[in-house]
Amino acid sequence: MEELVALCKRRGFIFQSSEIYGGLQGTYDFGPLGVELKNNIKNAWWESMVYDNDNIEGLDSSILTNPLVLGYSGHEDTFSDPMVDCKSCGLRFRADQVPKECKPEDLTEPRQFNLMFKTNVGPIDDGSSFAYLRPETAQQIFTNFKNVIDSTSKPVPFGIAQIGKAFRNEITPRNFIFRVREFEQMELEYFVMPGEDEKSHDIWVQKRLEWWKKQGVPTESIELYDVPTEELAHYSKKTIDLMYKFPHGLEELEGIANRTDFDLGSHSKKQNELSIGSSVKENKHSNSKMAVQDDSGKWVVPFVIEPSAGVERGFLAILNEAYFVEDLENDKTRVVLRLKPHLSPIKAAVIPLKKNNTELVEAAKKIKNDLQKIGLGRVIFENTGNIGKSYRKHDEIGTPVCITVDFQTLEDDSVTIRDRDSMEQKRLDIDDLNNYLIKLINR
Ligand code: GAP
Repeated sequence: MEELVALCKRRGFIFQSSEIYGGLQGTYDFGPLGVELKNNIKNAWWESMVYDNDNIEGLDSSILTNPLVLGYSGHEDTFSDPMVDCKSCGLRFRADQVPKECKPEDLTEPRQFNLMFKTNVGPIDDGSSFAYLRPETAQQIFTNFKNVIDSTSKPVPFGIAQIGKAFRNEITPRNFIFRVREFEQMELEYFVMPGEDEKSHDIWVQKRLEWWKKQGVPTESIELYDVPTEELAHYSKKTIDLMYKFPHGLEELEGIANRTDFDLGSHSKKQNELSIGSSVKENKHSNSKMAVQDDSGKWVVPFVIEPSAGVERGFLAILNEAYFVEDLENDKTRVVLRLKPHLSPIKAAVIPLKKNNTELVEAAKKIKNDLQKIGLGRVIFENTGNIGKSYRKHDEIGTPVCITVDFQTLEDDSVTIRDRDSMEQKRLDIDDLNNYLIKLINR
């Protein structure tokens, strides 16, 4: 883990948040390369969900959430972790994460600690008007169920996908960006008719494994954990966690839950007119009937299959899989991030051989500008005058290809292409660069 953390800081992937004031525990900032990698991960997810499936729609709902939403969802009552205090060191821990140094006899009895952040809404700060920062993006998908159906005329099965921030006041944030207090989720709520849920759940587990593989996290690196009944969330009938061997240990990368009819049933009006299978609180506030009519005209509350992945955990797993330290000749080593090219923060670096040669510099700038226009992601012009150093840097940040502009370029409009993984170099006509890059990034 230390090596990854050091690389992230050194190269501008991730910084501690509020660092100049000593930081804020459980929060991180994504730097110039981090924001690109993060966006690329999110784009890959969005494409695979919304663009590849005509029956999945996107949503971007608010973070500030009406307390009623999280009351009826069960979060006010159950979204808590057991917390203990250590009388010896004076620190507070999640009951299952107490360090070995704290003796059992020094610990207080566990008590429940709700993980939701509250914030004041409006100009009066007397606690009478507050909202929650959403602890998962899912709830506002459920509350928008009817809006999306009515505006898109989607028949069940259909899904709503959302990527966005979630906030949890974790008792012990830890392991770099693995467990933080502010993070992003990529969540799909896929609505199916009751009876179709188990098959759909199995299909989504397979689809998600395939997606992770395309992002460079092979299926062999993921273990499926069938969450035992006593550990299931209050809404779940079955959950399969995708467990990944993070540098600090085997932990959850993504959860794929069968949430049954709990969510739509909980947020629905006229609950007694619907045969809701889950045990839900009586809803006295909702103005929406969260149900659809089946072929016979009967109102049915759909079941929900939910693949829910954390962006930060995906980021960490992808970096971990891509990170290699390779031995070179002359007892030298190189660090190389073998990221899938569509995820690379920088798609290509264009480097003039001589820093101060106007013709080379101008030719390189033109190539950079032309490649940037293809819209594959960020291409940079790099004018360090030290080709070897530039190659090493771009190996380390995962740039799939470096393009060197030299004196031959001025004569025959060709450049040197240097491949990150094989380190092989070859000549290519400038006219062929677009296609070369398109093929490389989309492979
Ligand atoms: N809507 C379902 C839900 O939120 P979850 O298992 O609590 O389920 C889903 O969270 C995913 O969100 C996890 O698999 C993980 O990737 C990510 N996640 C949850 N808590 C996190 C935290 N404190 N820091 C970073 N990622 C987190």
